[in-house]
Parts: sequence; C-alpha cells; structure tokens
Amino acid sequence: MTDLVERFVKNHKLENREEYRELLKHLEDPEAAEYVRVRAVKLRERHYGRAVYVRGLIEFTNYCRNGCYYCGINRENQRAVRYRLTPEEILECCRQGWELGFRTFVLQGGEDAWFTDERLAEVVSSVKRAYPNCAVTLSVGERSYESYEKLKKAGADRYLLRHETASEAHYACLHPSEMSLAARKQCLRSLKSLSYQTGAGFMVGSPGQTYDTLAQDLMFLKELQPEMAGIGPFIPHQDTRFADQRAGSAELTLRLLSVVRILLPAVLLPATTALGTLAADGREQGLAAGANVVMPNLSPRNRRKHYALYDNKLSEGEEAAERLSALAKRVKALGYYLDMGRGDAAEI
Ligand code: 5AD
Repeated sequence: MTDLVERFVKNHKLENREEYRELLKHLEDPEAAEYVRVRAVKLRERHYGRAVYVRGLIEFTNYCRNGCYYCGINRENQRAVRYRLTPEEILECCRQGWELGFRTFVLQGGEDAWFTDERLAEVVSSVKRAYPNCAVTLSVGERSYESYEKLKKAGADRYLLRHETASEAHYACLHPSEMSLAARKQCLRSLKSLSYQTGAGFMVGSPGQTYDTLAQDLMFLKELQPEMAGIGPFIPHQDTRFADQRAGSAELTLRLLSVVRILLPAVLLPATTALGTLAADGREQGLAAGANVVMPNLSPRNRRKHYALYDNKLSEGEEAAERLSALAKRVKALGYYLDMGRGDAAEI
C-alpha cells in the first residue's frame, strides 16, 4: 500500500489539505479502496462489535425558511406539499416506535417558525416524560445558542446538523447569500459546548464539490470531533435548480464512509437513506464500508412521500419502521445484528 494510505490508517489523520486530496486520489485504485474498507470495518468492530444501531426518524415538518439549492423542501419550491405534524401526532409516532422497540427518536424537520422554542421544548419534554429511557435527537437546523440551550434543558440528547461543505466558496454554490458557513460552524460549536452529542456531515457529489472541498470536509470533521457523521450521496430533486445535475456516486460515498470511520474511529455513522436510494444494496454496502447506524422512517405513512429532499427518496421496504424484521434479516445476513438500545457514542 502507498505510504500515504498506510500513514492515514495508522495515525487516523494526515498533515494537511494536500495530503487529504492525495488520499482521495489514491483511493481511486480499487486495491487501495479495499484496503481502507477492511481497516474501517475492523475499527468499527473494535469500538462497536457487530451491533448496528437503530434510530427512528420522525420527519415532523417540511416547512422551511431556507432556500438551500439542493433541497426539495426549500422555501422556493411551490410544488412541495407542505405538512406539519401536531405535537400529539409526533408523540403518536414515538408511541408506535416504542411499540416496535425503538429507543431513539430523531425529530427532523425544516426550519419551521411554527416550532418556536417553547413549542419544540414542550414536544421534547413530553417525549422524554413518556419515554424517559429513550434518547431524543433533534435535527431542525440553525437556531440561537439560547434556543439550543432551552431544548437541551427540555431533555434533547443529540443534535444533527450537517455542515454540508467546509469550503466557503462551495458553501456559496449550494446556498443563498444569507446563509453562511460561519453561521453553520457557530451552531455546531454551540451544540458541542452545550454537551449535545453532535452530528455534522456532508453530501457526496453535490454540484461544485471537488477532492479539494472534500479534503476540507475531512479536516473540519477531524477538528470538530463530532459524535455522529451523516454522509450520503447528493441526489437531484426535479423541482430545484439542481434538477439536471448528476447524482453523487455510490462508490465515492462508500470510500468516504470508510475514510471517516478511520478518521474518527468511534463515530456513529449511518448508512443513509440517500445511499439506499441510489443503489439497491446501498445500505448493506454502507455497513460493509464502516457505517454502524440505520434510521428507519417512523413518520406517518401518508406524509412520507412529502418529505422529499430528493427524487425517489426511499421510505418503504426496509426504510420503513414497520418492516424492522425484514431489515433485521438483511443485517443478520451480513453478520451483524440490530441493537435497539440508545447506542451512545463509544468512548475512545
Ligand atoms: N440529495 C441528498 N441529500 C440531500 N439533503 C438535502 N437535499 C438533498 C439532496 N438533494 C440532505 C442535506 C441535509 C439532510 C437533511 O439531507 O445534507 O442536511
């Protein structure tokens, strides 16, 4: 194996951006990619054994004040059918999830002003009251420090907020001018300082992405040390300005999952829905590349199709929480098992 790849595997980091760029270039060689994949799987097993953690995803609102160019529920999309679950409906999703064995609920939504701090905090605390041993993860975008603090006090344990890209220039290709990478990073630092288990991450193959911007993503993750990392392919949505752009590649996504596993050995790393959407066995391949989390969909069935971040987004089959046993079977066939516990990040 090349010295650079060996050194990365041994040290879990490289010295600078050029080296990360080189690493990605080296991984175009299938032999190098396979080497890194095997090492990533070993690390995952060292920290988490053969467990695959399960999170129940509740997509509770697709109203959004942001205009992210890639996203199907961005505010400009007049064709999106908007919905918002009531607090009672959110609790009912949790109840169904609890019955199915879920012990972690991820409440995800667009940046919807209806969910003020007070309303959202009330949702979080009522979920925690009803299911005290469950972990609640929020994924509702950028908010103030005070807001994150209130939600933490209400009982939220974790927060997912992808940074999307760590390159200023690339960030500006993907977002309208009122959004900034600096603001996004500030939110992530606030979340960390409030002791949320924090998730960052990025899409693979988003328009304008290069090995150089990916190198910056890897360096940013290494510096932030998030407990979770969400990495999935970009997939175009027909009603966005990126409708005619190419989707990211499953292969590069898989390589990056392995790289991120080596970079942050104890990170919680989902095999994303987007990867499952792009390739029939995408989720399995993700697990075989070093991922260790799956997030079946617990949203009300009649709403799922409306949470369309990209075209053809999976929400049926094994993506659906009701089909947990089918998912368990596929995971078992890989030599892993579904762990329905809280699945906190491992200590290293
Ligand atoms: N393709 C893939 N992922 C997308 N996301 C948003 N739009 C798309 C798309 N078109 C991802 C973003 C966001 C997460 C909730 O979904 O990275 O952070």
